[in-house]
Amino acid sequence: MRILGIETSCDETGIAVYDDTHGLMSHELYSQVKLHADYGGVVPELASRDHVRKIIPLIKKALVDANTRGEELDGIAFTQGPGLVGALLVGSSVGRSLAYAWGIPALGVHHMEGHLLAPMLEDPAPEFPFVALLVSGGHSMLVEVKGIGQYRVLGESIDDAAGEAFDKTAKLLGLDYPGGPLLAKLAEQGEPGHYQFPRPMTDRPGLDFSFSGLKTFAANTIRDSDGAPQTQANIAYAFQEAVVDTLMIKCRRALKETGMKRLVIAGGVSANKMLREQMQKMMAGLRGEVFYPDLAFCTDNGAMIAYAGMQRLKAGQTSDLSAAARPRWPL
Ligand code: KG4
Ligand code: ZN
Repeated sequence: MRILGIETSCDETGIAVYDDTHGLMSHELYSQVKLHADYGGVVPELASRDHVRKIIPLIKKALVDANTRGEELDGIAFTQGPGLVGALLVGSSVGRSLAYAWGIPALGVHHMEGHLLAPMLEDPAPEFPFVALLVSGGHSMLVEVKGIGQYRVLGESIDDAAGEAFDKTAKLLGLDYPGGPLLAKLAEQGEPGHYQFPRPMTDRPGLDFSFSGLKTFAANTIRDSDGAPQTQANIAYAFQEAVVDTLMIKCRRALKETGMKRLVIAGGVSANKMLREQMQKMMAGLRGEVFYPDLAFCTDNGAMIAYAGMQRLKAGQTSDLSAAARPRWPL
């Protein structure tokens, strides 16, 4: 079976063709980062318009690269939510129209399910069950995963997502949008031991997160600092260390509570080098395993949507052609 995946929930147009015997056949990604950089964040209306411009040429290219005609596909998976409604409507309209024209089923996929299953594109892929830490620009959550569609949210952020905290703190440090990767780069020049940021909500039981306090702490620290480049790097280091440490404490707790030994980390922030290294060490110490997506599939992409759609298709699930967009949609 072969499926086309379409991701347009935010500022990335991602298209991919996935085959259940041959794996990923092609994937195309267009990032709108430059378009939104001047505004310091994603402008929803501009995002929708740009998806409209890019989506058809990218689908054409993905099909050519996979040496596949539309009529040969078994289904089309599109991100149905959560995300920006206008952006979601582009992918869902195009996806459902093509499915109708080609006489194949359309499948609305949950964006976070896509992130959650992205490590399954790797070899070796994690086996069920596992605990998943999903950390992106819009969400931070811990999920117990027993199989496809068997998800229990163990905890989530009560305010900012981890990626959002990275982006906001990066902005305070004068870095461009999206600042997460730039802050991580600046932190590489930082020295440990100069600043001690809090580890929010780790001193009480539970698996929820809170990251907005870290941003406020960063704002005050930056305001009271000398603004020298080394100081900025030291602050970036301490901030990143606090986020990573907080995520590690919560993951350890979630593994203990569920009695599991496998951890999957996905979403944009899973591209963070310090996070990957520290989690690797922690899991080795716990005699467990940790799995990540390839760096290309940590942030938004079409491959993860195609993969999640394929699992749904194999389970005999399809979406009604009237299923459009769900900007708010719990996992
Ligand atoms: O999953 P994603 O592409 O979009 C959402 O679904 O939100 O995640 C984007 C987020 C942004 O906040 C970005 O700053 C963050 O992931 N991010 C990183 C890194 N790469 C991306 N944060 C920290 N370190 C990185 N290396
Ligand atoms: Zn995402």
